[in-house]
Amino acid sequence: MLTSTKELLEAAQKQSYAVGAFNMYNLEGAKAVVNAAEAENSPAMFQILPNVLNYGGSALIAMFLEAADSAKVPMSVHLDHCDDRAMIGTALEAGIQSILADGSTLSFQDNLAFTQEMTDFAHAKGSTVEAEVGRISGTEDGMTVAEKEAKMTDPEEAKEFVAKSGVDFLAVTIGNVHGKYHGEPQLDFDRLAKIREKLQIPLVLHGASGLPATMIQQSIELGVCKFNVNSEVRKTYLAFWREYGRTESKSDLLDCQKSATAAMQEVIAEKMRLFGSAGKA
Ligand code: 13P
Repeated sequence: MLTSTKELLEAAQKQSYAVGAFNMYNLEGAKAVVNAAEAENSPAMFQILPNVLNYGGSALIAMFLEAADSAKVPMSVHLDHCDDRAMIGTALEAGIQSILADGSTLSFQDNLAFTQEMTDFAHAKGSTVEAEVGRISGTEDGMTVAEKEAKMTDPEEAKEFVAKSGVDFLAVTIGNVHGKYHGEPQLDFDRLAKIREKLQIPLVLHGASGLPATMIQQSIELGVCKFNVNSEVRKTYLAFWREYGRTESKSDLLDCQKSATAAMQEVIAEKMRLFGSAGKA
C-alpha cells in the first residue's frame, strides 16, 4: 500500500531498523522489490534516478506508484538525486512521495537556497524531502564524482542546514561511495555519531551496496533509517541477461523476465534482512 516516505522512515527510526530504497528502472525491478517486500513482510521504497525518469516519463512514475499501492506491505516512491526544478515539479505533480533535492554540487549557501525552495514546493504538494550536505563520490547513473571532489558531511553545517531548510531527511557522507568500494569500506562513525547528536531527523546512507553487516548495523544504531541500494541489484540483473545472451535455447522472453526478476528479488530480500526491515511491515 502506498505510504508516505516520512511514515516509513519514522517507523524505522522508532524501532531501530532501516528501510531499503532500491533504484529501479523497469517492470522487472518493480516486481522484484514488491515480491521481496511481500515475501519478507518488509516496508520498502522504489527510487527513480533522473536519467531513468527522462527516459520513462510520467508513465514510469505511474507504474511504480501503482506497484507500490497494490503491494500488501507499505511502500513509497522517491525521486533520487535531482537538481532539476522542472523534473522535481513533474515528479511531484505525478504524486511521488519524496524527492532528493540534490544541491550537493553547489556551495553551502546555494545548496541551502535550492533545498529551501524545493522543500517549500514539495511540502505544499504533501511530499517530503531528502537533502545532501557534503558530496558522495563514485559512479551512479553514468555520472562519476571523483574522490577528490567528495566532501564529508560537517556536523555543524548539517545542523544549520536542516534547521534553515526544513528538510525531512538528511543524506550524510561519511566515507560511503556510489558503486564499487576500492578496498575495505572506511566509514567515519565518529562523524556519524556527531551528526546524530545534533539532528533528530532520519538519516540516509547512500552507497549501501558492498557494505558489510557490521557497518550496516552500526549505521542503524547511529540513526540511519534509509539505505540506498543500486549496484548490487543492477549487476545481478545485467549478469542474468549476459548469461541469457549465451544460451539461445531460452527463447521465451516472458520466462526470462520472470527469472531476471527472481534473481533481483533474492538480492533485495537479503538486503531487507540485513537492514532489519524484514518482518516490520
Ligand atoms: P550503490 O549503487 O552503491 O548501491 O548506491 C546507490 C545509491 O546510493 C543511490 O542513490
